[in-house]
Amino acid sequence: MELYKNKVAIITGAGSGIGRATCLLLAEKGARITVVDISKEGGEETVSLIQELGAEAIFVQADVGSRDEVKQYVDETVKAFGTIDMFFNNAGIEGSVTKLAEYPDDLFEKVVDINLKGVFYGMKYVIQVMLENGGGSIVNTASNAGIVGTPGVSPYAATKHAVVGLTKTATGEYAGQGIRVNAIAPGPTATKMMERFTQGSEEAKVAVESGIPAGRYGTPEEVAHLVVYLLGDQSAIINGAVYPIDGGLTAL
Ligand SMILES: NC(=O)c1ccc[n+]([C@@H]2O[C@H](COP(=O)([O-])OP(=O)(O)OC[C@H]3O[C@@H](n4cnc5c(N)ncnc54)[C@H](O)[C@@H]3O)[C@@H](O)[C@H]2O)c1
Repeated sequence: MELYKNKVAIITGAGSGIGRATCLLLAEKGARITVVDISKEGGEETVSLIQELGAEAIFVQADVGSRDEVKQYVDETVKAFGTIDMFFNNAGIEGSVTKLAEYPDDLFEKVVDINLKGVFYGMKYVIQVMLENGGGSIVNTASNAGIVGTPGVSPYAATKHAVVGLTKTATGEYAGQGIRVNAIAPGPTATKMMERFTQGSEEAKVAVESGIPAGRYGTPEEVAHLVVYLLGDQSAIINGAVYPIDGGLTAL
């Protein structure tokens, strides 16, 4: 079955972690991919890794918090590949670990710009193309912090809850036009983001892992398998769902 062959995907935050792992899995399946990241180095490296697998990719450097740059990565994809079948709306930042009353206003705004406005603009402009083309599949990246309260990261938790709200609302608005919108809610996953959270400390990592029923972080590749399934036609009946992928963290 060649479900993904020549299908066009945009992946944001594709220069590292979960975004990169998803690019590589889709590349193995023959998709054509627009790699979007604020980091030129990370994005170009992902494009090279995709090309090594024999798939086609372009890199668009963009800050997803900028509406104009979001519009640009959508326009450049249509110019290069003609359409958009799949969209992994994934870029996000964690902000700092600071209690709400002390949280710096400028950092609060930055987290909202990237994690909420970035996801909103991405959906807005991609859905316009998908409507013209008769449908498509979108996966937004929420978090376990989008399902339960997460002390220390109020803007991160607020924006990830907002991603869930956007996902479910867009499902109701566009299901009749062939567009599916789902979200994933990863728990701690072994990427640079968790390294920053734990500041590279093995002790802090072990403390986080001890709170996860599975006893370990997820891997970006495990998350990528879920994303690729949700992006593809095998999940055609799944719409408006928010999938925890967290070793049982939010079940208890
Ligand atoms: N790692 C985890 O434990 C975890 C858990 C739950 C949710 N998530 C979410 O998964 C997503 C991916 O994170 P990751 O763990 O792969 O982290 P990561 O830091 O490894 O990768 C994030 C990528 O996003 C890019 N990026 C950051 N700001 C950007 C911007 N303004 N515009 C475009 N690109 C930008 C970075 O350059 C980086 O390449 C994020 O939305 C994150 O909140 C991660």
